[in-house]
Amino acid sequence: MIKRVEVPVEADVVVLFGATGDLAKKKLFPALYQMAFKGALDADVVGVASTKWNHEQFVANAFDAIRSHVAEVDEKILVELDAKLSLVVGNYEDPKVYQDLALALADKKAPVIYLAIPPSLFEQVTQGLAAVGLTDHCRLVVEKPFGRDLESAELLQEALERVLPEERIFRIDHYLGKESVEDILIFRFANSIWEPLWNRRYINSIQITMSEDFGIEGRGAFYDGVGAIRDVLQNHLLQVVSLIAMEPPSDLSSQFMEDEKIKVFRAIDPLKKEDVVRGQYVGYLDEPGVAPGSRTETYAAVKLFVNNWRWAGVPFYLRTGKYLTETTLEVVVEFKHPPQLLFTGSQETSPNILRFRLGKNDGVDIELLAKAPGDNLETLPVQLNVEFSAALGERQEAYERLLRAAMSGDHLRFTRIDSVLESWRILENVIHDETQVYPYFKGTWGPEKVDDLIPQGWIDL
Ligand code: BG6
Repeated sequence: MIKRVEVPVEADVVVLFGATGDLAKKKLFPALYQMAFKGALDADVVGVASTKWNHEQFVANAFDAIRSHVAEVDEKILVELDAKLSLVVGNYEDPKVYQDLALALADKKAPVIYLAIPPSLFEQVTQGLAAVGLTDHCRLVVEKPFGRDLESAELLQEALERVLPEERIFRIDHYLGKESVEDILIFRFANSIWEPLWNRRYINSIQITMSEDFGIEGRGAFYDGVGAIRDVLQNHLLQVVSLIAMEPPSDLSSQFMEDEKIKVFRAIDPLKKEDVVRGQYVGYLDEPGVAPGSRTETYAAVKLFVNNWRWAGVPFYLRTGKYLTETTLEVVVEFKHPPQLLFTGSQETSPNILRFRLGKNDGVDIELLAKAPGDNLETLPVQLNVEFSAALGERQEAYERLLRAAMSGDHLRFTRIDSVLESWRILENVIHDETQVYPYFKGTWGPEKVDDLIPQGWIDL
């Protein structure tokens, strides 16, 4: 039975499970620093970890992390942060760690407990928290992937719901914290010029690429049990699909937003074997932590359709991979040709393109045709570009926004369980299927086999 407790809106403490881990180092401590720098960290920070560090070691490591990820660090803010930080050390299997944590939080009314730990530990840790009464009033933040497939996600949800209600569960997909990704909504629904074109009559295809020119960076033990489909496609890329394809929500409440996204997911049939190409970079099997002969994919490309009035027949191509040619995150909207090709030149080969650049230097590019100089009525492609940081100023980091949102109980940038389950349903056949994994060389765009999926080829990035 879940105890219903009135939880104050603003969190008074953030608890980080996995406080000595990779995510804490790269993302969470820098985010906490930024909040403190802006005067927006009105809470203590309690780390929980099995590494036997004392307070000084913990703080020194947190500060190292901050110094290596923040351009200019204000030492005064670090002093303030030091006063807020503490560490509880213990093994997650041992009930004592939860008792120690409960003691450390004795005077706290609204803890946010962030599980920055491998998903396989979520259930155990949540049970530990429940045993000492912490789930009666905490908000729980869980990292992706939520489950490994449809069934395990359902089971995990059941386990969480036994001890705390959905309104206090915050599922992270950090792409929803990216301002560049949120901009898709503004672009589509704050500008009236796109809506008449945003459908199957004018759009030929949507191509989404999330590529990285680096590998698994020492995360072999985690990554090998996950792979590109579960790591990126099921969550980050499908969320981008939903923002591109959704109908306008009635308002911006998390409920209406999620309602619209879920309609998109429901309109996507479960992918079949032939809709997917999996790849593995040559050299992956030598990475530390990777099982001998592993068939885990480090590259995945899929073709899917959103079967509704707006999108029927328009292919959505998604690809992601490690050690590809470049690091980029882009959505390319390819428009259809005009009904009559009147001019000579590049008209046939250069469709209008709208490109959302969502990674570093995010912005929008539009590719149009213009008259080539000279006597003839000949076309040449031209580009209109805007770089948002130059035009509008610097963006905030996703994790900073997500931590702030969880601390004030705002669900807008988190995924709801029904949409997570829908995304697993779409991928169910292909994650359990022993489809072939094609090798590819580092620094390429992945296995050539992908040409079968997208015969016309990807539009250049
Ligand atoms: C994470 C994945 O969720 O996203 C990583 O686990 C990936 O494998 C990362 O590198 C990419 O995030 P970003 O914000 O750099 O696009």
